[in-house]
Amino acid sequence: MELRSTPAIILDCDPGHDDAIAIMLAAQFTRLVGITTVSGNAPLELTTRNALIVTQLLGIETPVHQGAAHPLAAPALHAAIVHGESGLEGPVLPPLVRKPASRDAVAFICDTTRHETDIWLVAIGPLTNIAHAVEKDPDLVNRIAGISIMGGSTHVGNVSPVAEFNVWADPEAADVVFRSGATIRMCGLNLTHQLMTDDAIVARLRDRSDAVAGGVVAPFVAALLDYLHGRMAELRGERRAALHDPCAVLAVTHPQIFSFGDRHVQVELDGELTRGMTVVDERSAKDAPAPNVEVAYEIDPAVAMELVLSSIHEH
Ligand code: BDR
Ligand code: CA
Repeated sequence: MELRSTPAIILDCDPGHDDAIAIMLAAQFTRLVGITTVSGNAPLELTTRNALIVTQLLGIETPVHQGAAHPLAAPALHAAIVHGESGLEGPVLPPLVRKPASRDAVAFICDTTRHETDIWLVAIGPLTNIAHAVEKDPDLVNRIAGISIMGGSTHVGNVSPVAEFNVWADPEAADVVFRSGATIRMCGLNLTHQLMTDDAIVARLRDRSDAVAGGVVAPFVAALLDYLHGRMAELRGERRAALHDPCAVLAVTHPQIFSFGDRHVQVELDGELTRGMTVVDERSAKDAPAPNVEVAYEIDPAVAMELVLSSIHEH
């Protein structure tokens, strides 16, 4: 069997139900060098608090660095309609005892990648912090292994017919990142809609709730998913939810369960109907500009779900 070394990552996130689960996957399958937070699903103070609470629950010492409170040009918009006002509605949140390691996520990203090369940036919120880092330090893209993004889509959107939340929330930042020259892997909605949780997954987590292996983390995730399924039932008519953000972690840790296609991707900044769309060029190589993104098209959902479930425990 092929031996893979554990990838080192910085996880840039806006927890967020699926972000919380992505932190768990990252804690299990990566060397999680740091977590950086951004305004997105909820305002920055809340996404930072939520990231700290998840590290507390997991019992991991990963530093959390707070980042940008506002997008590059757009007003800050949040997703309380999905994640609740707190960003992590559902479980009773324990009191926060931890503090952010700094309030300068961009400095953390630039400095850390100067001391250690080949770190993956896994970006699962709006791309504001990553864009600031690339603009401050353009050589960053040559020092990192790549940027694995949950964002965009080859076709369907979720906040508009064609725009996905993370790109839509800060399209100017996404544009900077997609043009940066970095190796980019993109898990868009076309991919993440293949990895769905349902109430059978919640039942599996609740069955584990008393088990030592599950500890407090399994009931916490069960309550998160229960809430999310309720929101989806109201918004989309189905008690099922896509685990978007975990896909961007798995694209680094388990690329063998994906299929990717190299494509040219640009972000639409102006269109009245299409602002925030990722325009994926699917023409033949002879017609399309040179690819800048490894676009994820397929994932093995059964294997991916078992990997997710195996990461839901205290450390
Ligand atoms: C993305 O938006 C957020 O609501 C989720 O956390 C995910 O990162 C999906 O569009
Ligand atoms: Ca997110």
